[in-house]
Amino acid sequence: MRNRLILFPILLALFGLAGAVLGAQPSDAPHLEKRGAATQLMVDGKPFLMLSGELHNSSSSSLEYMKPIWPKLEALGLNTVVTPLSWELIEPQEENYDFTLVDGLIDQARAAHQRIVFLWLATWKNGMSSYAPVWVKSDVRRFQRVVEHGSEVEILSPLCAATQEADARAFAALMRHIKQIDGREHTVLMMQVENEVGVLGDSRDHSEAANQAFDAAVPEELTAYLKAHYNELNPDLRERWDAHGDITAGVWTEVFGDNDRTDEIFMAWNYARFIQAVAKAGKAEYDIPMYVNTWLAGDDTPPGEFPSGCPEPWVMDVWRAAGSSLDFYSPDLYDPRFELWSRRYRRAGNPLYMPETRGGAAGAANVFFALGEEAGIGFSPFGIESEADAKDPLAESYQVIAELAPQLLERQTTGDVHGFVLSREQPAVDFTMDGYTLRVGLDNSFDGPSASGFGLIMGDGKDAFLGAGKGFRVAFTPRLESGPQAGIGAIDEGTFEDGKWVPGRRLNGDEDDQGKDWRFDPRSEKIEKVTLYGYE
Ligand code: DGJ
Repeated sequence: MRNRLILFPILLALFGLAGAVLGAQPSDAPHLEKRGAATQLMVDGKPFLMLSGELHNSSSSSLEYMKPIWPKLEALGLNTVVTPLSWELIEPQEENYDFTLVDGLIDQARAAHQRIVFLWLATWKNGMSSYAPVWVKSDVRRFQRVVEHGSEVEILSPLCAATQEADARAFAALMRHIKQIDGREHTVLMMQVENEVGVLGDSRDHSEAANQAFDAAVPEELTAYLKAHYNELNPDLRERWDAHGDITAGVWTEVFGDNDRTDEIFMAWNYARFIQAVAKAGKAEYDIPMYVNTWLAGDDTPPGEFPSGCPEPWVMDVWRAAGSSLDFYSPDLYDPRFELWSRRYRRAGNPLYMPETRGGAAGAANVFFALGEEAGIGFSPFGIESEADAKDPLAESYQVIAELAPQLLERQTTGDVHGFVLSREQPAVDFTMDGYTLRVGLDNSFDGPSASGFGLIMGDGKDAFLGAGKGFRVAFTPRLESGPQAGIGAIDEGTFEDGKWVPGRRLNGDEDDQGKDWRFDPRSEKIEKVTLYGYE
């Protein structure tokens, strides 16, 4: 009995110790997870919405320079900063790594309650190779360049194995280091591998290695992928393949045709192979989401005027055929047709994230569409430190969305949310939700019609909706014509504090047009709840 009494506290202590050790284990690394209707970014076991912004290219090369910027980004309402990190600064001499900057940026981010998406500016940035270390750039024999119109240009060729190995080795070292210092805290959420890659100035590389590969058979991995995924292929790519008989053996011009779009497909394959291999080497060290961003082509712009080979929607299948280490592709979305390009990237099977887009008033509106309508994992205006002034319209949107994040993340998975941006060109949109048709139109008040409006609407239980935004009004009609009419029961504005609804004013009279519509004032963004009643 006495022995048992002594043993008991010892066992308890041992269990306690084991628990403490287990508790100290790093939790899952950030990863993407398909959850119902959405693919979400999971951080520390919970879905995470990146309210982010991308820094100007050179800001994060200096910790001193960054010091005063972090608090401004926090005040703007960011939770994540898309942060450039260049190969030249971490491997200034071959195999001589210096991670001081990485450590400093992560420390600074933590102090300002920010997460990081690192941009690996390595072999390519905006098509060119200016961010490669000098020991790479200067050794043009070992690290071969793209040839255009008979001359070498400062673009490293994706067909050069030595460059791929050197880039992959550096990236692997970086990921190993990030895992060591951040494997538990998860300040670093994702990695962008390279930046806006592709050949600029010509539709393809004409170096010796490239010419040889272009005159050789299309790799079997590519044609086998096209065959296996025929029904889901991008229609443009499928048409090109169909036009030449869907053959699985032949040189590039036989399989896809003799034109500059075939050059683009060829470059997509070669950039994809290179970057998939770099990402694979990095993931072998630390497996967090990795993606490639895209300089979007203008309509009818020939390849070479935009970087030929970057993951435009019509060559994304080629990127996927080259490997599976990249988790998704994203648009750098400056085109005013925000909805069109968002849809193109989401429909092509990517969780929507734009590392670069417009901020200011445009960003303040578009973020609702990206995260609401397209279930995006985040949003990120470019040059964010220039906007880092708490009065920026983006700050208001980020504040509202941060409050709503738990509800929004949940509704993304059920598909019970719609986001919209209204303008004179698109003054109204219709949705059906929970048995009602919602006509969401520009608001109209004593001062006349709003020029713009934006927001999102989510289901909030039976006959109830939760909305946010400004400058719009919603009219409800029941979907069943034979059923009861819909009337507005009550509208409350409010806020969410730590996820709990705190009601403010009851909105009636002018504020709901005497019970006619659910209104969102054009002057400032609001969160409101409405409940409906039926009458015969
Ligand atoms: C797109 C690039 O990806 C960014 O790094 C930056 O150069 C912007 N363009 C500048 O507008």
